[in-house]
Parts: sequence; structure tokens; C-alpha cells
Amino acid sequence: MTDFQSVHGAAPTGVWAAPGRVNLIGEHTDYNDGFVLPIALPHAARAAVRLRTDGLLRLWSEQGDGQVTELEVEGLAPGSVEGWAKYPAGVVWALREAGHPVGGADLWFDSDVPGGAGLSSSAALECVVATAYRDLYDLPLSNADLAQLAQFAENAFVGVPCGVMDQMASMCCSEGNALVLDTRDLTQRQVPLDLAAHGLWLLVIDTRVKHDLADGAYAELRAGCEKAAALLGLPALRDLAPEGLAGALERLPEELAPLVAHVVTEDARVEQAVALLDAGEFAALGPVLTAGHASLRDDYRVSCPETDLAVSAAVEAGALGARMTGGGFGGSVIALVREGLLTEVEAAVRAAFAAAGYAEPRTFTAVPSAGARRLS
Ligand code: GLA
Repeated sequence: MTDFQSVHGAAPTGVWAAPGRVNLIGEHTDYNDGFVLPIALPHAARAAVRLRTDGLLRLWSEQGDGQVTELEVEGLAPGSVEGWAKYPAGVVWALREAGHPVGGADLWFDSDVPGGAGLSSSAALECVVATAYRDLYDLPLSNADLAQLAQFAENAFVGVPCGVMDQMASMCCSEGNALVLDTRDLTQRQVPLDLAAHGLWLLVIDTRVKHDLADGAYAELRAGCEKAAALLGLPALRDLAPEGLAGALERLPEELAPLVAHVVTEDARVEQAVALLDAGEFAALGPVLTAGHASLRDDYRVSCPETDLAVSAAVEAGALGARMTGGGFGGSVIALVREGLLTEVEAAVRAAFAAAGYAEPRTFTAVPSAGARRLS
């Protein structure tokens, strides 16, 4: 490990952390003004930071290529930065676009959020920088404000038309809780999720199929949803109630109907899941997760053979429920598993992957962890 001092020649002013996330349910609902239910992972991006007065951003990552990336803050523009550095640079650009008079800094990053695994490693990088800058410049910005700025950086600087879930999860989740978030007005509520007290575990299965949200498929789905809402005369698909779904589907072109079916039923599943969490009926969450996966696989069509296999192998081995989490096209699956079956479920997924000739999945258990924060 190379520390801040040896890269940048002096001690940092402070160290910050921002986590990755898994979403329990509510997938592809955030850009439809709908509901999501993420938890923060124990895995996080950490940043040691010291401000500079010469307008330079000097970025180093333990996961990078061993070089310092040097950028001029004044010269930052959408499309001007390549690779991982575009996420931190984008946040500095977004803060300045929003009128905050921020400048350069020396930054050192280390992240254990697996990249390209649908676990929001990029949102973690964005949010750790946003939090450090807020603290160092004493900016009058809430965690939700920072999440929106980080989303703006990803949309306008990086060029990925993502919703606000990942950044809100990284900024606003808290230890021991799931975050119930209305993505229309950012109303949020923390709901206790002590799975271990109920003899349950949330198993994360990273299929190691790299997803890449910038590849156009995500943008196409988002545009399809927006077109469907416009055809239905609605501000967003969130405004279509489940009772109106059947009638709406008849009025939509064939290629848009399944997208709408997913979004409307998924919003209802979030509501169902929140009611179960409020009632402490954690095990009953299982079938809701599995139904969510079927909808993503059959209607939204963002699963892939590896995520489908991880879900079916986990459920067949006794998981209470399982689904892909995140944008899809690869990435990770979550499974809700009774304590006594954890080893068995993991082994079954590994065996199924080996039999199918897929790469060995990475598995770990996740408990709801802290959101973005200053460490020292
Ligand atoms: C990605 C995006 C989020 C959200 C999910 C799908 O993670 O960044 O905004 O749309 O996909 O739920």
C-alpha cells in the first residue's frame, strides 16, 4: 500500500469514506420517479484529501495504474477525463457548475467496493469526494444535496443517464437500516433491518460478469420508459397505479408494454417489502425478491444467464428468495438465506457455475452499513 504522504509529500487534512450499496428491491424505478429500498455495504471508497491553492487536482488510486493523474480544475469539461478519475473530477466540476467556489486538491483513494459488479463503486467514489469537499469548504449542502450533485456529475460529466438511487444510498444510508426512498421528492425513511436477529443473512453473489452502464442499453430503457409515460399522458410511470396497468398495457406499443409492466409492479413490490420490514416479517421478503427477479428477467430483460442461474441455484438450495441487484446486464445477485443454509446455498451456486462453465462467483454476506462520513 502506498500512503498519502509518499504520493503527495505531506499529511492529508482528513480521511473520508462512502459505501457501495445493494438494492433490496425497486430496480429501474428511480428514473421513473418511483421507490427504492437500498442498504449501504460495509465495502466503501476511502479518500484522504488535502486542498491545494494552485487549481490542480492530483489524483492517486490504490486500484489505479501507479501514476498520479493531474488535472486543472479550470479545464474540467464533460468528456475531458478518462478512466476512474472522471468520477472524482466530475464531482469537483459539478460543485463548480452549481456555483460553489471550490478548487484543486491532492487526493488518495482506496476502495474495496468491487468494480463493474453492480454494487455502485462509482457512486462511492463520487460521494466520498463530495463529502470531503463539503466538509473542507464548509459548504451549506445536505447529504441529499450532495447525492444530487454526484448524480449530476455522473449524468453530465461522465455521460451515464443514471437515476439518483446509488448516490442517495451512499450518502444517506445508515448502519442497521434500509433506506426507503421516494425518488420523486427524495423523502426518506430509515427502516431497521436486523436480519441476524431473525436468523437470516443477505448473501451477495458477484457473478463477475462486468456490466457497463455507459453502453447505451440503460439509456435506451430509460428513454423507453419516458416515451411510455408520455404516450399515457403521465408525468412519469410512477403515476400509473396498479389498477390502471391492464388498461394502459393495451394502449402501448408492444415493445414498451413490458417495461411499464415491470416498473408498475416493481413499485408495488417496494411498498410490499416496506410493509413486511415494518412488521418485522423479514423472511416473507424472500418471495418478493424472487418475483422482482422474474420481472427483470421476463419483462425488463436486463438479467443475463449468469444472474438467472445464481438466482435459481440459490432458491433451489433453500434461499428464501433471490434477485439480481443494480442495473443488470451482469453484476450481482442478492439472496435471503436462513443462517443454517448459508454454506449450502453458497456451495450450490458455486457448483452450478462450475457445471455451466462460468467463472467462479465471488460471494460475501452484507449487513446494512454506514453512509458517507468523515473517518479522521
Ligand atoms: C443503476 C443506476 C441507478 C438505477 C439502477 C437500476 O445502478 O445507477 O440509478 O437506475 O441501475 O435500478
